Amino acid sequence: MSVQPGSGQGHAIDTLFSEERRYAPPPDFARQANAQPDIYSKSFDEFWTDEAQQRVSWFEPFEKLYEWKLPYAKFFLGGKLNICYNCVDRHVEAGAGNKVAYYWEGEPLGERRVVTFEQLQKDVVKLANGLKRLGVKKGTPVGVYMGMVPELAVAMLACARLGAPHNVVFGGFSADSLSGRLNDMECEVLITQDESWRRGKTFPLKAVANEALASAPSVKHCVVFGRTGNPVEMKAGRDVWWDELVTPASDDPASCPCEPLDSEDLLYLLYSSGTTAKPKAIAHTTGGYLVGVATTHHYIFDVKPDSIYWCAADIGWVTGHSYIVYGPLCNQTTGVIYEGTPDYPDRDRWWDIIERYKVDILYTSPTAIRTHMKWGPEHAQKHDLSSLRLLGSVGEPINPEAWIWYREHIGGGKAPVVDTWWQTETGAIMISALPGITTTKPGSATRPFPGVEAAVYNNAGEEVGPGGAGYLVLKKPWPSMLRGFYRDPERYQQTYWSRFPGVYFAGDGARVDEDGYFWLLGRVDDVINVSAHRISTIEIESALVDHPAVAEAAVCGRADATTGQAIVAFVTLKGGAEGSPEMMTTLRDHVAKKIGAIARPANIVFTPELPKTRSGKIMRRLLRDVAEHRPLGDTTTLADAGVVDEIASRGRELLAKGEEE
Ligand code: WTA
Repeated sequence: MSVQPGSGQGHAIDTLFSEERRYAPPPDFARQANAQPDIYSKSFDEFWTDEAQQRVSWFEPFEKLYEWKLPYAKFFLGGKLNICYNCVDRHVEAGAGNKVAYYWEGEPLGERRVVTFEQLQKDVVKLANGLKRLGVKKGTPVGVYMGMVPELAVAMLACARLGAPHNVVFGGFSADSLSGRLNDMECEVLITQDESWRRGKTFPLKAVANEALASAPSVKHCVVFGRTGNPVEMKAGRDVWWDELVTPASDDPASCPCEPLDSEDLLYLLYSSGTTAKPKAIAHTTGGYLVGVATTHHYIFDVKPDSIYWCAADIGWVTGHSYIVYGPLCNQTTGVIYEGTPDYPDRDRWWDIIERYKVDILYTSPTAIRTHMKWGPEHAQKHDLSSLRLLGSVGEPINPEAWIWYREHIGGGKAPVVDTWWQTETGAIMISALPGITTTKPGSATRPFPGVEAAVYNNAGEEVGPGGAGYLVLKKPWPSMLRGFYRDPERYQQTYWSRFPGVYFAGDGARVDEDGYFWLLGRVDDVINVSAHRISTIEIESALVDHPAVAEAAVCGRADATTGQAIVAFVTLKGGAEGSPEMMTTLRDHVAKKIGAIARPANIVFTPELPKTRSGKIMRRLLRDVAEHRPLGDTTTLADAGVVDEIASRGRELLAKGEEE
């Protein structure tokens, strides 16, 4: 397909890619689906009012759906509720105490636990009582720095029970990242653990916490969960073992009732793991957030009372907050929590888990899918994955080939795939297929969720018509939207509300097709300008991944005297294959054929890995540094710092050999 007419003439982004495959929902899936076509016919007010009443138990009903004083929204005004009550207590009261809340699978083989809702309630009540003894009450900021153990969910729920806002820091971050976040929120308590497991090795959470706490003076108490049992340094007067704190505490829910909170009371801060700037302290409140996550979880994942649902993210990211802890528990869903990496002890670990627990819904990221693609389908083929009924994706644009691979090799060619677009800021999924209704197109997140008003704007702030591309915006507030940045109203205003008056600008590019489907094009900062054509990275990457030899690709621009920018591609081949000059020619031609000569990469650097953030997003900013021969910028959020040195040396070699075209 060629560049669309008129492109380069002030268009925000030109689009090149055309994907013709279509997948209608299987009729038997459609019949039983939680979301039926009439879901789209309700008005905004009607939809969110009904969902709030259906999905959440209120101590006191709300009086008004929402109030919108740009750029701040409030939802469910006057309502009183408690999230822990909704996620735990009410299920036990309803007689579901014996239902499994979490199947937990430790990384070391054979370490497993089954946590029922009743057990979860006891654990939460005990910890909440213990925290109360340490002075935690409504409004006390609590930091949490743990691995993927059920106690991480328990810690969050105990905070929610007391009305103490939490700040979960991903359990792989450094002491500086941890102390920065603790100081910013002035946390009074930190909940951590001795060590966590990762790829067969221990990670020293408590030692890192000790270093962080040396420069986090607001933290008066540190609660330490014992996971591995290896010795750690405890500071007398400040540190207390989880077990010692909770053993004497009552597990009777009446001993620690759920604090009635206002809809707009702060639930948590989460520092966004941006690929560029300084972390942003994103604030989520109680009522709107819970309604948002529970509603989207119910309809998009088509969760049933007997579902075994697995969101294979880390609880330390928003995906885990919303879709491992709060959404699923509010819906009384049985979930799986896995502690470790997908390749420990072998590359079939995930598929083994799915087979054992008969998981019917799997939610993961494109980066994980592409990793499994790189390893090859034989690992999944060793296991019976026929329990899988639905697959979800989140975190980055998904390349059509990865989407197809996921559907074929994991979903047995029948499970619908829902690509879900959202952000830490949005709290809940905003754009996604509804699996019983939507005819999906590989690579498209399809349509805005009911009660979400998304649009794509051009440079002038006008809505583009079908076939157009530009900036993704949300035109109306939504219940789970962020309530700002903690103590930084100017940056909040500047970041989302200054590009186009009156609408939320997400920072992402998108295209809308003839059917009104949205195709996410990546961060607008990553758009490449070649001879005045503004090309999104994802389209070129998808064209590369479309070649059968390619597992993963990332592209960026480098300055070019003739074309403004030239495209540099970083490519990982399947099965660990090395690149060659012939492969380079093949791939450059493949891109030209697939989407047009304008998008033909000037250079291709073959690399065994791509630089990614801890949450799996490709850091194109660092690739730009490599491509431009610049010293590397901030690498502290990289998952594996070695990767970028390797790429830099390969990149230097190649780019020094003379730049093609
Ligand atoms: C990207 C993760 C395309 C996007 C929940 C967004 C996606 C950022 C998708 C938010 C998707 C997330 N398709 N891009 N389905 N999902 N993104 O805050 O650039 O970690 O702005 O939230 O990830 O990342 P965050």
